[in-house]
Amino acid sequence: MTTPGDRLDRGGYDLCIRNGRIVTGGRIVEGDLAVHDGRIAAIGEVPQSCAREIDAAGRWVLPGGIDSHCHVEQRSGMGMMCADDFYSATVSAAFGGTTTIIPFAAQHRGASVPEVLADYAARAASKAVIDYGFHLILANPDEATLRHDLPQAIRDGITSLKVYMTYDRMKLDDAQLLDVLALAGQEGALVMVHAENHDMIKWLAQRLLDRGHAAPKFHGVAHDPLAESEAAYRAIALARLVDVPILIVHVAGGDTVEVIRNAQTLGAKVLAESCPQYLFLTAQDMDRAGLEGAKYCCSPPPRDADAQEAIWRGLIDGTVQTYSSDHAPYRFDETGKLPKGEATTFKDMANGVPGIELRMPLLFSEGFLKGRIDIHQFVALTATNHARLYGLAPRKGEISLGADADIALWNPDREVRISAGMLHDNAGYTPYEGRTLRGWPEVVLSRGRVVIEDGQLHAERGSGAYLRRAAPEITQRDPQGAVAGRPHGRVLKALIGLDAAKGAA
Ligand code: URP
Ligand code: ZN
Ligand code: ZN
Repeated sequence: MTTPGDRLDRGGYDLCIRNGRIVTGGRIVEGDLAVHDGRIAAIGEVPQSCAREIDAAGRWVLPGGIDSHCHVEQRSGMGMMCADDFYSATVSAAFGGTTTIIPFAAQHRGASVPEVLADYAARAASKAVIDYGFHLILANPDEATLRHDLPQAIRDGITSLKVYMTYDRMKLDDAQLLDVLALAGQEGALVMVHAENHDMIKWLAQRLLDRGHAAPKFHGVAHDPLAESEAAYRAIALARLVDVPILIVHVAGGDTVEVIRNAQTLGAKVLAESCPQYLFLTAQDMDRAGLEGAKYCCSPPPRDADAQEAIWRGLIDGTVQTYSSDHAPYRFDETGKLPKGEATTFKDMANGVPGIELRMPLLFSEGFLKGRIDIHQFVALTATNHARLYGLAPRKGEISLGADADIALWNPDREVRISAGMLHDNAGYTPYEGRTLRGWPEVVLSRGRVVIEDGQLHAERGSGAYLRRAAPEITQRDPQGAVAGRPHGRVLKALIGLDAAKGAA
């Protein structure tokens, strides 16, 4: 498929992709794409010869995906270490057409933000094979963190943070959420919220366990859709109070989509993300013999066919802007899903499902090729919107002149029967076992380097680059200091006024 050549002898570009169907700037261009020094140097007709040629006839030439929600080498809120390190996770991502990931640097109570960030940076630098940034998970918004460490982290390019409304070890109360939102508003960071009502889940779970209902399927009962939609509504209300943008992650339920859509209609700066597990799994998947259903348990859990339809609608009409994996790989053994062996209850097991490699193939096959979304929506949901929301545009997430040559060549005719054995993560199983997908990313480039070709990895450990991110578009300030063209909310403005008056007195 490729013909190596010699750029010095022939002149021209480092690499040309010929005869492809290139998706660029909302258009489809049938032709060539040239890469030079890791960037896209020409699109359309490329008469020059290139050091290397790739024939893309019959292939879609798309931006490499950006997965802005994945857990890598991270200890969960429940204290379990996930199964992938920065090598296996980035290799797996690349095989699935993803060329940038934004996982989490997770603070646990007791650790300082600078320590956490330095730790994740060191571990990723020696292992990642594709580019990466970090969101910060904030579990301890104390005075020192809010005054100093968090603003510093944001200025250093960690321009988004995730907060939890549930999990004993992670949850923030409403006052803490307001503190974080107000600070994020001042500093131009985007707050991502895991929205589930902690007390509802705890109350239901205890009553289920008291009655002996411990099987994985009861995870879905304890995490009732109302726990999700109530928390989403509350998070949005808190964000509106201080007029700060917010992004609700891993939206699972139809009511939650409705809550978000209503808030957006009122003009609130609310963004949303959903994930493959909410399009392609349901609560029935958790209802399997023995503990097998644990492989399908994540939070919020997959729901029903109506909820799946609501998520599709949200993705199609723009209520939900990003489609991420929420890859949270835990093995089906005592390190993850079965910490108490056969006696494990739904409350003991690690939450989360693997999906970093299949995120894009699932949507390409079931969304694009089956006509639910068009190719531009596919690109926006898997790449461009992530870049814009998380401060990576225009360098990442699009095929345009000067952008990083992060590109995937998709063969729309290739059929693949999914099995855990063909994947490159360390979970050891896939919730999509046995499904047949159409379309596959056969060649993947990261900054112009061919990292996947002919089913092989061609990238060295540590060859991925850290991405210091700009402020997300939605949080950018105008010269008067207003966020995204709007003044701070009346509450913050009043408080700022009081502070100023105090300073003047
Ligand atoms: O169940 C999930 N989603 N696990 C990962 C942790 C999180 O809350 O995103
Ligand atoms: Zn979460
Ligand atoms: Zn997650």
